[in-house]
Amino acid sequence: MFFLLTYMMLKEFIWPKKHFKNQGSFEEQYEMMEVISENSDTEVHIQKVRKISDNKVYCAKIFFKSVDIKRGDANEQNEIKYLKKLKHSNIVAIVEYFDDDEKIVIITEYLEITLYDVLKCYKKLSEQNVKVIAKTILIILDHLQKHNLVHGDLVLQNLMLKKEDDQFDSLKMIDFNTVDTEENRRSTKKITNRKQFLNCQPTSLAPETIQQYIVNKQSDVWSVGIMLYTLLFGTVPFDGKNPEQIYDSILNKQPKYFLEDESGYCVQISQKCESFLKRLLHKNYEKRYTARQALEDPWLCEES
Ligand SMILES: Nc1ncnc2c1ncn2[C@@H]1O[C@H](COP(=O)(O)OP(=O)(O)O)[C@@H](O)[C@H]1O
Ligand SMILES: [Mg+2]
Repeated sequence: MFFLLTYMMLKEFIWPKKHFKNQGSFEEQYEMMEVISENSDTEVHIQKVRKISDNKVYCAKIFFKSVDIKRGDANEQNEIKYLKKLKHSNIVAIVEYFDDDEKIVIITEYLEITLYDVLKCYKKLSEQNVKVIAKTILIILDHLQKHNLVHGDLVLQNLMLKKEDDQFDSLKMIDFNTVDTEENRRSTKKITNRKQFLNCQPTSLAPETIQQYIVNKQSDVWSVGIMLYTLLFGTVPFDGKNPEQIYDSILNKQPKYFLEDESGYCVQISQKCESFLKRLLHKNYEKRYTARQALEDPWLCEES
């Protein structure tokens, strides 16, 4: 009995259950800083904010309801649901959220820079740096796949670096708006997601998505392959002048693993790295690596 009471007290006071929903008003508790991104198609705004009570900077993702409700879209709940469920040191941390008549606001930790911006700055990254990034992304993906979830939008803009003590030290996945279970993807979402596919960057679509509107765990692995190739070579593996040419390249061509850039400089990668990328970018998703298999690949496991 004594132990039970002690346990209950500890649970209540030392490990209190975290309630993410804030009952107050977002505007009263946060001061607006600069707008980070505004997506007029989805009516999602990303805003840097400062919390008045602790004077710290956070990121606010604001979903305006009127538009979402008109579209019958319940995705904002999705993002909250999965950010709460999937807590991981390499997934952006949710702090709290607000839900009023007009909008849903998700407050997360503030992250400094996306991998997309890192690439813009450096043009291409070294094999050693890409290996570190690959390991982290695959660890997060394996975590999602253990929960039977598909991310559905793994692009360089959805991976960010956190700056701590003046150093960029952790890579974090963001944007859980498209996350869903593989079962849901297979059944109900198949048709409605068609529009979503068409909004995606054509260069990041997997062959099965183009041909059969399938987005499964293996399509996420394809996206990882696209991102890693892009970081290594500074250009996407499948390109074209218009979406049709890009889709043709994704379905029928093999990427080049030896590239010359505009200044005549040759980008070459090791044989092990090339074999690894080929297993991620296998056109048949049944033969493609799973996240777990990829983590055991010799290129990732060898000492750097
Ligand atoms: N936690 C964050 N800290 C700082 N910037 C962020 C954060 N989350 C998102 N962003 C920025 O906003 C952009 C869009 O955010 P995201 O959640 O991906 O929304 P969308 O659904 O519009 O793609 C990101 O690519 C990134 O540049
Ligand atoms: Mg995004």
